[in-house]
Amino acid sequence: MTAHITLTRPDDWHVHLRDGEALHTVVPHTSAQFARAIVMPNLKPPVTTAAQALAYKQRILDAVPEGQQFEPLMTLYLTDQLPADEILRAHEAGVVAVKLYPAGATTNSSAGVTDIRHTHATLEAMQRVGMPLLVHGEVTDPEVDVFDREAVFIERHLMPLRRDFPELKIVLEHITTREAAQFVVQAGKHTAATLTAHHLLYNRNALFMGGLRPHYYCLPVLKREVHRQALLQAAASGSDRFFLGTDSAPHAAPLKEHASGCAGCYTALTAIELYAEAFDSVGALDKLEAFASFHGPDFYGLPRNTTQITLHRQSWTLPEQLPYGETSLKPLRGGESLAWRMA
Ligand code: DOR
Ligand code: ZN
Repeated sequence: MTAHITLTRPDDWHVHLRDGEALHTVVPHTSAQFARAIVMPNLKPPVTTAAQALAYKQRILDAVPEGQQFEPLMTLYLTDQLPADEILRAHEAGVVAVKLYPAGATTNSSAGVTDIRHTHATLEAMQRVGMPLLVHGEVTDPEVDVFDREAVFIERHLMPLRRDFPELKIVLEHITTREAAQFVVQAGKHTAATLTAHHLLYNRNALFMGGLRPHYYCLPVLKREVHRQALLQAAASGSDRFFLGTDSAPHAAPLKEHASGCAGCYTALTAIELYAEAFDSVGALDKLEAFASFHGPDFYGLPRNTTQITLHRQSWTLPEQLPYGETSLKPLRGGESLAWRMA
């Protein structure tokens, strides 16, 4: 049995860092593991201009502990009104991507897109400058079963989008279904997907094990075991179109343990350990480094990292909760044991 593995330092290609005081809890977790992270723009109000993205980047950098090297990669939030010339300003300012939330699909998405046709001029500008579109791929149609919303989004919206903008780089974020994995494989070199650790490790039974488990609730929601198996197979295939994106999404514990609990799993504290467990479960530890450290920068056209991290096979218990301002934050698997530990 492999006792330790050394990897090129990974990047997180999808994370929620929030803002204000929360940054001081969550940024150090991400910056301890990852060299860079794609930072989601779903703040209140959303990050819709290059100037806002640069100011937010500085607030994140101010929360990085002394001695750690960490580069936040900033994104803009696509709205029906985001002007094409903001894309050019953002591109010049070093903003790396734009996030599409269908309006109402998830946390802080009310300013999102109501009809993709409203955004065509903006998407054209992105295609021209090579800026990726990051997609929350779920329909919001209340008639569609919540477990089918990703598959229906692919048919109704993503396939036409792929056809209309053949050169646009598209990342289907946090995929949860066999249909999504198949779509990415067949869609050609400009289409990729991120995979979260929680969707690789859990199926929807986790939500109901011995009672309702709000800390396993995220969007897109966990799916059936056949889908989890398809995601694991995609990750372990070594295909360069799948890469690491934690979708770590902190919410104060009382807002998750609530009559209408918030969506999001907090995994940033032990992200790479959770991915190691998932890859190990299918005998694919040898594929972890490319998934975590190579495929992302290659797709985005950024250099790979040059430093390394080491993981040891060592059983340890994760704290059940962490202080989070006046309240607490419960990491996924809190109070339980993990099989790997980053040195
Ligand atoms: O579970 C989720 N939480 N999914 C999302 O799409 C958003 C995220 C958040 O911001 O909390
Ligand atoms: Zn997310």
